[in-house]
Amino acid sequence: MQDTSFAIHPGNKKSIDGVPYHDIGDLKHFTQINNTYSFVCEQGYVNIVFYRDEIARIVMNPFSAPTMESSFALVTEPEEIDVVVIESEQAVTLNSSKLSIKISRSPFRLAVYDENNRLLVEETARGMGYNEKKEVICYKDMKKDDHFYGFGEKTSFLDKRGEKMTMWNSDVYAPHNPEIDALYESIPFFITVRGGKAHGIFFDNTFKSVFDMKTETDVYSFSAEGGELDYYVMAGPTPKDVLTQYTTLTGRMQIPPKWALGYHQSRYSYETEAEVRELVQHFLDKEIPVDAIYLDIHYMDGYRVFTFDRDRFPNPEKLMKDLKEAGIHVVPIVDPGVKEDPEYPIYQEGINEDRFCKYIDGKIYHGDVWPGNSAFPDFMNSEVREWWGQKHKFYTDLGIEGIWNDMNEPAVFNETKTMDVKVMHNQDGTLKTHREMHNVYGFYMGEATYNGMKNLLNGNRPFLLTRAGYAGIQRYGAVWTGDNRSFWEHLQMAIPMCMNLGISGVPLTGPDVGGFAHDTTGELLARWTQFGTFTPYFRNHSAINTVRQEPWSFGEEIESTVKKYIQLRYVWLPHLYTLFNEASKTGVPVMRPLLMEYPDDQHTVNLSDQFLIGSNVIVAPITAPSTFHRVVYLPEGNWINYWTSERIAGSQHILVEADINTLPIFVKEGSILAHGSVKQSTEKAEENLQIHVYPSSSGQASYVLYEDDGKTFSYEQGEYLEKSIRCEFNEDRLEFEVKNQGNYQPEWKEWTLVIHDVEKDKQIFINGELATSEYLVDTEERTLIIKLDL
Ligand code: GLC
Repeated sequence: MQDTSFAIHPGNKKSIDGVPYHDIGDLKHFTQINNTYSFVCEQGYVNIVFYRDEIARIVMNPFSAPTMESSFALVTEPEEIDVVVIESEQAVTLNSSKLSIKISRSPFRLAVYDENNRLLVEETARGMGYNEKKEVICYKDMKKDDHFYGFGEKTSFLDKRGEKMTMWNSDVYAPHNPEIDALYESIPFFITVRGGKAHGIFFDNTFKSVFDMKTETDVYSFSAEGGELDYYVMAGPTPKDVLTQYTTLTGRMQIPPKWALGYHQSRYSYETEAEVRELVQHFLDKEIPVDAIYLDIHYMDGYRVFTFDRDRFPNPEKLMKDLKEAGIHVVPIVDPGVKEDPEYPIYQEGINEDRFCKYIDGKIYHGDVWPGNSAFPDFMNSEVREWWGQKHKFYTDLGIEGIWNDMNEPAVFNETKTMDVKVMHNQDGTLKTHREMHNVYGFYMGEATYNGMKNLLNGNRPFLLTRAGYAGIQRYGAVWTGDNRSFWEHLQMAIPMCMNLGISGVPLTGPDVGGFAHDTTGELLARWTQFGTFTPYFRNHSAINTVRQEPWSFGEEIESTVKKYIQLRYVWLPHLYTLFNEASKTGVPVMRPLLMEYPDDQHTVNLSDQFLIGSNVIVAPITAPSTFHRVVYLPEGNWINYWTSERIAGSQHILVEADINTLPIFVKEGSILAHGSVKQSTEKAEENLQIHVYPSSSGQASYVLYEDDGKTFSYEQGEYLEKSIRCEFNEDRLEFEVKNQGNYQPEWKEWTLVIHDVEKDKQIFINGELATSEYLVDTEERTLIIKLDL
């Protein structure tokens, strides 16, 4: 090419001379139409709309007035907000009751403050504009003590200061490591914690985008390859407030069915009906609890979705029926690629009814995936989503209630690893390129699958597991972290990865326990299962041609510790379920980094190897081989070792012993939490509901146990039980107030109050009455056990 005119192609120049960044310039004029404040600048246009008093949307378009079109992530409209506008020669200020946006006129620069005049976002040197690649970009000041969290599914540590991250849904089979800056999920949202206070930014742009918290020391930026610079600033001030604000915009996960929270067993693949039956028999014989078995791609006829290979699975109807009777759900994989086969009904229908993605000239896009050459449904189109959703009748007719969506980035076996970005999607009449819609392909597939299943399940809750997604994916599914490996490093990395996914609004997450690719070891499986007990989503999954990693694969010692921790999952289930109810109402995740509860504590800033379940339980997994102790950080307050009942003062790092059977767990003094009993699966009735109390010497604690049928949506009609327990801790007595609310009658008719570390002569009052006769004292454990009626 060097000897043709191509050598002097203008595109060979590295950048536009002198214009690496194009600023929008000075404010020329400003108008208000209804709730929209519009600013016309020398080289750009900005609109500001308050969605809530504490949430403002800022949209910049360098070339024309912003369209104000939102992505499908948004579930809410702006409310009527009273905004006071103050204009001066230098600035325009927009004040709601919770946010103040100050815009200086020359040049146009934004600063956002909260109601207490706390600075959230500021642009000093540079502001908004476009860069040499004509990408929309904005720069914000990065203060010395700014720390960043969220960004969806990212490798590396918890705090993303010093990272540059790309949002481009990518199937990455290569080992996940800190250099990989784009994985399967793109969630362009983050929270900033500065001086113990938090605010959030959601950049609602579906093109490839980049968040650069690395290149400069005092400025960070976010940019996108196309579209408008459309972002929301959320006031906080706590990290939990930001999550509630973010999920007001993008929605929350509904309470998952209980079985989705049990232990799940998967492998690529359990290849035949006989193998599945044998697997299940092992779980039953060994009394290892299990709620779901996954069918990976081998169940299909030539990898055609919505089919069974009848040689391998001669009688899926009977298989599903038998498993259901054993209390076990089956979750089949459904990928988006539809095999090009003129004799395959789904392909025929897709062609005849115009369901597949096409080029602008009408030619259908085909790409190579598991079934070979395949076409891809255009999920951006609501009729296609409806069509795809209804197809799941194939599964629901067999009694299946859960679906696993994989390869939905979409992954394609080619150089770019995905669909040609020139493919067009028909978003209900509007044509959009794949370049624009790539990051939302999996999200729309999730919508199609979840809603399709919901329509088919006669009131039962569907469960969806998805690999790819965009902001808002929590409305439809659980997210697992894709193709990790059986490396100790990947066990370590999964902790901050899941915490940041939680901060990104997705509460039901977890990695492949034991590791997907590579060969696991007994020790790694044991330690990983211990961690899995407390990840919101708990599935053991491994790849073809790797060593087996079912719980019994490494001899009796490992089996017994793996079994112990799978059982422990069921013991903690009532508490986890209660936390999922909280997540569904507030957006606050089940698995939390310590900074969520202790944002003022400097030790929590980048604490990546331990986490909280809810607000008051610390879990500190062992993540290295031949390691039987570790350092655990306990924040302020007193903490109780869950296993030994030892009381330990907080605000310090402690060294904890942890033999192969021990996962370090610490409960904060003054906590109340629920436990259930070990059972074969969540389908078995809960007969031993316990409320554990860890008293402190004074003060109060409260807990609201949430319970419903765990299966249907009838909780939306009031069919739930909220048992609220308040306790006052005094020197000589403990006073409990117990109340029930809601119409649901649980399986248990009585429950047990378990009070830890309490002297025999302490008086216990329950709803004003002295409880004397019935309680037991375990003198060694100093534990009181009181049986109570519902
Ligand atoms: C992808 C998935 C993996 C699955 C495999 C075969 O690699 O991430 O979980 O087992 O495809 O379907």
